[in-house]
Amino acid sequence: MGPPRAPQHGPTTQALPEAPAGLGAADAYWAGFYTSEQRAAVPDEPSAFARWAASRLDAAALLVDIGTGTARDALWFSRQGYEVLGLDYAAPAIDQASRAAACERLSATFEVFDLYQVDQVGAMGMRLVGLTHSPVLYGRFLIHALQDHGRRALWRMAGMALQSGGSLYLEFRTGKDAGARHEFGEHFRKFLDTVTVVDEIEERGGKIEYRHEDHGLAPYRGEDPHVCRLVSTWKQ
Ligand SMILES: C[S@@+](CC[C@H](N)C(=O)[O-])C[C@H]1O[C@@H](n2cnc3c(N)ncnc32)[C@H](O)[C@@H]1O
Repeated sequence: MGPPRAPQHGPTTQALPEAPAGLGAADAYWAGFYTSEQRAAVPDEPSAFARWAASRLDAAALLVDIGTGTARDALWFSRQGYEVLGLDYAAPAIDQASRAAACERLSATFEVFDLYQVDQVGAMGMRLVGLTHSPVLYGRFLIHALQDHGRRALWRMAGMALQSGGSLYLEFRTGKDAGARHEFGEHFRKFLDTVTVVDEIEERGGKIEYRHEDHGLAPYRGEDPHVCRLVSTWKQ
């Protein structure tokens, strides 16, 4: 038997009622993951995507790691001197990341944040657009972890936060990864073709600055997923 499946959200963009601490009650999969033995199988070292992104980034910008998970990338960016805000709707992940940052005396901060919560998305967009330096929004393996309305919320937040500058960095499993074997087993994943994601961003005013998809970009143990890297801006 594989790990528990994350229950499906309905098509509405409304928050689930009575959601505790920003985590939708129906989304216990990730909270469970970060308190399970599986967490230890996530590498501590930064992803290849993080290293690639760092070679292109504005070091003065706040790096907002959305869906930070174990914070392997967020903590690494912080060690490189970036100002980092890590976000995730799984409270255990945020607790662990906050403790890890404190242990290393890193300045990175972490907050529970849920892309399914309309009010949180709007508030974060407003907060980020007010920064002196436009932020970098970063989401590694986030897109395929989101239901459609979470993805739409991400575009909305990016449109708000990046209207004066900054960029959105994404790496995600594409539709070509749908039938592949996955090291962490099967649970909810949304496998989208790159063109679908690109169309959604462009329909909402984003401009694609970089697009590359292939195998070989994010190998992990016996997996070599087909992934896409996208960089998008929103400044008119
Ligand atoms: C596949 S993991 C990627 C973790 C990390 N970025 C990495 O590359 O190792 C997807 C992450 O997205 C988070 N996530 C999923 N849905 C979310 C939502 N609605 N709001 C915020 N985070 C979410 C999960 O809790 C999980 O940590």
